[in-house]
Parts: sequence; C-alpha cells; structure tokens
Amino acid sequence: MNIRPRRRLLAALAVLATGATLCGPAGAADKKLVLGFSQIGAESEWRTANTASIKQAAKDAGIELKFADAQQKQENQIKALRAFIAQKVDVIALSPVVETGWGTVLREAKAAGIPVILTDRLVKEADESLWVSFMGSDFVEEGRRAGRWLLDKTKGGKEEVRILELQGTVGAAPAQDRKKGFEEAIKADPRLKIARSQTGDFSRAKGKEVMEAFLKAEAGKKVHALYAHNDDMALGAIQAIEEAGLKPGVDILIVSIDGVKGAFQAMVAGKLNVTVECSPLLGPQLMQAVKDLKAGKTLPRRMVTEEGVFPAEVAAKELPKRKY
Ligand code: AHR
Repeated sequence: MNIRPRRRLLAALAVLATGATLCGPAGAADKKLVLGFSQIGAESEWRTANTASIKQAAKDAGIELKFADAQQKQENQIKALRAFIAQKVDVIALSPVVETGWGTVLREAKAAGIPVILTDRLVKEADESLWVSFMGSDFVEEGRRAGRWLLDKTKGGKEEVRILELQGTVGAAPAQDRKKGFEEAIKADPRLKIARSQTGDFSRAKGKEVMEAFLKAEAGKKVHALYAHNDDMALGAIQAIEEAGLKPGVDILIVSIDGVKGAFQAMVAGKLNVTVECSPLLGPQLMQAVKDLKAGKTLPRRMVTEEGVFPAEVAAKELPKRKY
C-alpha cells in the first residue's frame, strides 16, 4: 500500500485542527472583559458627563459594558446588580444613589466571586471587604473649599452673613459630606449662618422650586449667599432669583460644586460666583482598574480625584478648556 496519501491526509487534518483552534471561538486570553455598571440616573450635567466618560472609555479599552440606568432608585440598582451577578460579569462597578442598604446584594456579589468597584460615591457598610476599591472625589473637602471661599469673600464685614443651602439627594454621600465640610469651614467665623437648608435632589428643576420657596419665606429679610451642593441646583436657583427681580451673583453670592460648562457660562455672565470642581471623568481610571484586577493586581482601596476651585474671575479663560 502506498502510504504517501495517508501521510498527506494526516498532515492536512493536523493543519485543519490547528486552524480550527486559531479561528474558532476565542480562547480565554482573548475573551473580552465584561463590566456591569449600575449608574444612578441622569439627574445632572455632571451625571451625563460621567456616563459618557464611562461608555467611551469602555469602548476605547475594548471592554464590554453592560450599562444600567437606575433612574434615581436604589431598588433598580439592586436589581441591576443581581442581573450582573446572574450574567456572571467579570467586574461590577456601582455608583450608589444613597449610602446605606447595600449589604445583602454586595454579599451576593462577593459570594459569586465578582469584585465590586465603587465609583463616584461610597457606601456605608461595616464590612469593607464587600468592595475592592473606591474611586472618586473627596466630598467633605469639596464642602470645605466652598465654605473657605465664602469665608474669604465675606471676611472683614460686621453684619451676619445669612446663607441658604440647597442640599443634594437625601442620604447620598455627596449631600452629607458637602454639608459637613462646608459647616466645618464656616465655623471659623460665627457671623456666617445657614438660615435655611433643604434638599433640591441635585436637579435643576428641584433647585429652582426650592429656591422659589426659600425666597418667599425670606421676603423682607436679607439673604447674602446661596450654597448649592451642585451646579444644576445653582442654575435652577439662578432662574428663581431672576424671576424674583434680584441679581444672582450680585444681590446673592452663589457658591456651587461640580464645575460643569453650564456653571462656567453662568460665571461668565456674572450670575454665579464660584464653582468647586468635582470631576465626572472617571471612565479611563475605571477601565484601567478593571484590567488591573483581571491581571491579578491589587487595587488601591481609595483613589481620590484631583480637583480645583474656579472663581468667576477665571471663568472666561477656563471655559474653552472645560471637557464637561
Ligand atoms: O456624586 C456626584 C454628584 O452627583 C454631583 O455633584 C452631582 O451633580 C451628581 O448628581
């Protein structure tokens, strides 16, 4: 029997087998990483920029992103996390709407062996092993920076400085921390007093509505300043102040947080006095963290975003450089 054709057949089968391995379903090493991200919603310009940053960075990094918008509801975030666990994603990222109530679902993720990265906001849970890292701003420091700016702006005066405060979402880390930091800073001068404080839920519409109510309640009294926990509420309040026949930024000093383009435009127009930066551009850092985790690296427990303070005097120069 001529064995040559048999050899040729075996060689062809070997090539086919190799080819099948190379061209077939991707091996574990080529498998795309899958990240499940539970976003709070779209309550502010900041949040929209944060979502865009994360979506773009996932694309750039070749990471498959499963994105869930919770529309401001914690129950929706819990459902999303459970769906990610069922889908066996590689990593979960969570931006928690409020601080408490996460223990059960985070334990479920841990039991499934899925690491959780907290982005933007922290949770309050005794067991800190339920997340591997927290990346985002130092909200207490942001509050302090806002307070220090107002202290400096009003220093040397004799009269009481009456402040209205628009708080963020009730129970949210930035609302609590920004309040705490601001109060801590203004303690340095007993003339500075928070006359009224209420939640505006981090939204422009609510900021306007609450400011209208504040101004009605304050009729006949002097209001010196407004401290808004984010720019969107400040922008809503500016409308309310104008509709009440007052000049925002002049009759009432306005201090807010985030540093979105809308705030810079308001500063250029002379209607807002200062914005303390809180960067939403967390996407690239998050994707790097996902890759590092999967490469077996240990992430730092805390990654703090570096940020500045932008008073109205620098707004025109800074506005063209703003990325969100
Ligand atoms: O958690 C960050 C805060 O949430 C931003 O300051 C605010 O604009 C957003 O909605």
